[in-house]
Amino acid sequence: MSSAVISISNQKGGTGKTTLTMNLAAGLARRGRTLVVDADPQGSALQWAGLSSDEKPFPVSVIAVADNLGREVGRFAEDYQYVLIDCPPTLETEVTRAAMRIADTVLIPTLPSPVDLWASLRLANAIEEVKLRNPRLAAYILVNQLEPRSALSQGMKQALEEFDIPALNSHLRRRAIYRNAALEGLSVYCMGKRGEPAAAEIDAIIEEVL
Ligand SMILES: Nc1ncnc2c1ncn2[C@@H]1O[C@H](COP(=O)(O)OP(=O)(O)OP(=O)(O)O)[C@@H](O)[C@H]1O
Ligand SMILES: [Mg+2]
Repeated sequence: MSSAVISISNQKGGTGKTTLTMNLAAGLARRGRTLVVDADPQGSALQWAGLSSDEKPFPVSVIAVADNLGREVGRFAEDYQYVLIDCPPTLETEVTRAAMRIADTVLIPTLPSPVDLWASLRLANAIEEVKLRNPRLAAYILVNQLEPRSALSQGMKQALEEFDIPALNSHLRRRAIYRNAALEGLSVYCMGKRGEPAAAEIDAIIEEVL
């Protein structure tokens, strides 16, 4: 067995990479063995899982990898069906490119403002470079913290159409439950009824990506 590797990347900070990684991981774990690779020196994914309790543990193992991402992830390829890589918010180190070189898919969470989309343009260049060596890489923008009724979010749709990287149809709405789940070191799947709409969003992303 060889894993499906999904890199969650954006050189812009605070766009929802870790939130997406951890919730996707919990959703994917229902389908097959899943591993989270925390490739961000901030260590947010590790911290997140560390907040969970023994009674209610986070359902996915999280490992930190600083160097040799390709080799380290390769070691786990036989054991895991899905590997998610949470990247740091920078293109200045090799990590984001290294993750995309070994990934099948790169998901780029982007906040619903044109400024945030412009910031992702540099990532588009890096993706083109990486594709020369990893032509199977599929890249998708994923709009996070969408507020469907706001004019800005609607303007975002148009901006996305002019962007080189396709956007997923599914998105994440801005919901307090994503923050609450993080506070408990859990995913939205473990937050009872309150978590259900968010879990449905995560499931829709998984369906679309797989
Ligand atoms: N859909 C959402 N609804 C509400 N809050 C959200 C949502 N997505 C993310 N957040 C919150 O936004 C903040 C940034 O999210 P997160 O840490 O996942 O971003 P990041 O891209 O990993 O940041 P960094 O670049 O620092 O690694 C966090 O406080 C998180 O709880
Ligand atoms: Mg993060």
